[in-house]
Amino acid sequence: MTDPDTPLSWPLPSADIVGDIVGGTGDGTALRLRAPVDSDLRGLVTSSRHEDSRRFTHLEEDYSRDDAAAFLRTMARSPVAMLWIVDDPDAPGGFGGTLEVRLVSREARCVELGYTTAPHLRGRGLMTAVVRLVTEFLFDYRVHRVQIKANPVNRASCAVAVNAGFRHEGTARDAEMLHGRFNDLDTFARLATDG
Ligand SMILES: CC(C)(COP(=O)(O)OP(=O)(O)OC[C@H]1O[C@@H](n2cnc3c(N)ncnc32)[C@H](O)[C@@H]1OP(=O)(O)O)[C@@H](O)C(=O)NCCC(=O)NCCS
Repeated sequence: MTDPDTPLSWPLPSADIVGDIVGGTGDGTALRLRAPVDSDLRGLVTSSRHEDSRRFTHLEEDYSRDDAAAFLRTMARSPVAMLWIVDDPDAPGGFGGTLEVRLVSREARCVELGYTTAPHLRGRGLMTAVVRLVTEFLFDYRVHRVQIKANPVNRASCAVAVNAGFRHEGTARDAEMLHGRFNDLDTFARLATDG
């Protein structure tokens, strides 16, 4: 058995992650997380330009295909972040969303998740299922703590965390500057040792 003091091995394997959407309206629908491909650029642009995405992120209204391509390049080269594309469960091979894993501490074996669902797939349990599945994958690779930070006003994002079994740990006041204003950030976490 690996000594718990041994830092997390990073990056994690970037293999496909597969499972099912259980709950929401997608009972039993196949779920697949995969590497990005060029044909995802269009979906990334549509998703990033959507009003709800821009409201809770730093994305701009004129987010372009070049911006999306630059984002994918940055993620591919990042020493501290990994990106999976959520495959569209209704149109295999299509763009269904993104799931980002950011390294917080190799020593504490802690990572943070960031996510978006393509607008046409929102509200049917997709991201809740993705977060549950990825968290189990991360625990399998010795991650000890998985955390999510979200604006408490972003009810959908907070609901994803809670519905995926994350515990609400607290609210950091004025922790983010977005669109020229401070907002609070709620922290949610699951530990590998949680029951
Ligand atoms: C947040 C986001 C990823 C959720 O994806 P999703 O696939 O629609 O999530 P799910 O369907 O698994 O769950 C959404 C939950 O939020 C709830 N919800 C959605 N909109 C809501 C609202 N305005 N108020 C309250 N709850 C809301 C849904 O009812 C559901 O909860 P339930 O299953 O208990 O009913 C998606 O809305 C999104 O991409 N938003 C824009 C980007 C973003 O905000 N990312 C997070 C940044 S921290």
